[in-house]
Amino acid sequence: MERIIVQKSLGLNGNIRVDGSKNSILPILAATLLSEEECIIHDIPNLQDVRVMCKLLEVLGAKVERLGKNTLKISAENITTCEAPYELISKMRASFLVMGPLLTRCQNAKIYMPGGCAIGSRPIDLHLKGFRYLGTEIKSENGYVHAVTKKLVGNDIYLDFPSVGATENIMMAATLAEGETILENAAEEPEIVDLANFINSMGGNIIGAGTKTIRIKGVKKLHKTEHTVIPDRIEAGTYMVAAAATGGDVTIENVVSSHLQPVIAKLREAGAQVLEYGDKLRVISDGKINPVDIKTLPYPGFPTDMQAQFMSMLSIAIGTSIIHETIFENRFMHANELSRMGVDVKVEGSSAILKGSSKLSGAKVKATDLRAGAALIIAGLLADGETEITEVFHIKRGYDNIIEKLQNIGANIRYEK
Ligand code: EPU
Repeated sequence: MERIIVQKSLGLNGNIRVDGSKNSILPILAATLLSEEECIIHDIPNLQDVRVMCKLLEVLGAKVERLGKNTLKISAENITTCEAPYELISKMRASFLVMGPLLTRCQNAKIYMPGGCAIGSRPIDLHLKGFRYLGTEIKSENGYVHAVTKKLVGNDIYLDFPSVGATENIMMAATLAEGETILENAAEEPEIVDLANFINSMGGNIIGAGTKTIRIKGVKKLHKTEHTVIPDRIEAGTYMVAAAATGGDVTIENVVSSHLQPVIAKLREAGAQVLEYGDKLRVISDGKINPVDIKTLPYPGFPTDMQAQFMSMLSIAIGTSIIHETIFENRFMHANELSRMGVDVKVEGSSAILKGSSKLSGAKVKATDLRAGAALIIAGLLADGETEITEVFHIKRGYDNIIEKLQNIGANIRYEK
């Protein structure tokens, strides 16, 4: 079984380049199904989740061709089936994002119901509400969601919660619908803007992405395009926290600092210096961390995907921090693992209370999900002795070359089989 072994490594120093965003490329790959013409996409991260999405596109009839290390050409001239099988959907919830494009291209989509996952029950009711408003009939049978439409027609849709996935799926379905769709209380994440830019570059007509109201005017057809994915703000944030926690001096390259404002603000409150210049961010820290309270919120609030990494850093703060998780109901599993390493943390409902001043010691721990895995790596860098992290596949879903990148800035970390 593959493991990650981490030894205490204070004072990380050097440069790290961030890859293209995982949470941007997954919906963008789904959106390639909207066009019969080829899409060339650059800066694609080499991640397990990306491979699953490409496999799904191929099963549906698209041709996926590698043009370079991080560039793919996708041609969905013919969709050969509108059924997304259990094997792929069960590997990754984001594969449900093909529903919008399939409904558009085939007026019919049969997709295995994505179940709950480690971080919460994660229902899809808002995606389905949107499809219904666009003129789709939806049935659930044998674990599948079966959606059929005579014709997608634009409508006004209010999302009860600004779900990232529902906003993306509805935006894709509305792109080629007849008439205009106005999506209210939409998610405002940078990944939504990247998807809208991608669709518009194919001839779509989406305005307002990145705000609460998105207007999608249906067009008849989309054409070919070439697009570069935005940098991964969560990968960047993870390395920024590693730098701050270990008392390092690390420059993160290929970032959009406006996407990282809540993370930058909280790192500064914690005592780190964060310098922003162009597409780079430099984090300088003396390793003395102030306690900080955090509440996760939809963008532009503090991202839930950075909560676990901050918990590791705040474990060594001098004083008590409170973390309030409002997006997912079960996203504190790392607290249990961190407590094995000596972190003084108590979870009460949706809050975690961290006493701080913890003396971390290496232990055998398990990555319970992607960001929890990243948090354990950061804790391992702070802990005396050796930390052994299992269930490494979670980490590989979202971080390309994390071991090499951290080694390059001085971390004592390696894979072991
Ligand atoms: N929700 C509903 N009904 C729905 C959809 C969502 O109740 O129909 C709820 C969820 O259960 C959750 C909340 O709304 O409590 C937020 O879910 P959202 O739909 O916004 O999340 P997502 O689209 O499933 C994406 C990212 C996640 C990230 C969240 C929140 C992708 C592929 N995934 O998930 O990324 O945490 O947005 O920002 O974009 C990660 O990268 O580690 C990760 C989990």
